[in-house]
Amino acid sequence: MKIDAVTIFPDYFAPLQLSLLGKAQERGIVEFGIHDLRDFTTDNHHSVDDTPYGGGAGMVMKPEIWGAALDTLMTPQTDLIILTPAGRRFDQRMAESFAGSTHMVFACGRYEGIDARVGEYYASKNFRVHEVSIGDYVLGGGEVASLVMIEAITRLLPGVLGNPDSLVEESHATDGFLEYPNYTKPPTWREIPVPEILRSGNHAAIATWRSDEAAKRAHK
Ligand code: ADE
Repeated sequence: MKIDAVTIFPDYFAPLQLSLLGKAQERGIVEFGIHDLRDFTTDNHHSVDDTPYGGGAGMVMKPEIWGAALDTLMTPQTDLIILTPAGRRFDQRMAESFAGSTHMVFACGRYEGIDARVGEYYASKNFRVHEVSIGDYVLGGGEVASLVMIEAITRLLPGVLGNPDSLVEESHATDGFLEYPNYTKPPTWREIPVPEILRSGNHAAIATWRSDEAAKRAHK
């Protein structure tokens, strides 16, 4: 999978080199391209934003610059993700669906967002455009939201996780249930024992206990 991100803060994407994502890149499972939006400005001040039509507080990112940047990246295979708190809510199902994509471009807006014509234009040219929010709160920009999505999506790619079974069992993967609580050694820590049943060796009973616990969490 190829993942491009366009941002005025390329440094935000440094964590892509770490941990699972760094290894996935080394193994050639995913390739990241981080692009500085200001490279596509043409004025001396490298300005990327301007005042909103209709008035109001804040600044809006200029469509010409976004168009110049995205034109260099978009292909018929691309899923263009525009991060905005007004977008469709990101969830595990959406992550699974994007895990089948071959090319994703993350457009990270700042300020009051990107001129609305940018998404409209690419959609009108039959590109796949998705406005996505990671939750009902307002971030300073789309960079952190992109990182959240990239991590959730790329860990689903074959070969990224050491043990692919963890994908099957984990939270949300089955029926939208949260995962059961997990324990490791020692058997008692600060006077709190591990539930006896988990040490019983009775696999059927353990499976039942786990699914009951997962169901309890789901109803909280
Ligand atoms: N940009 C600002 N807030 C955001 C959010 N909650 N999700 C995605 N992009 C954003």
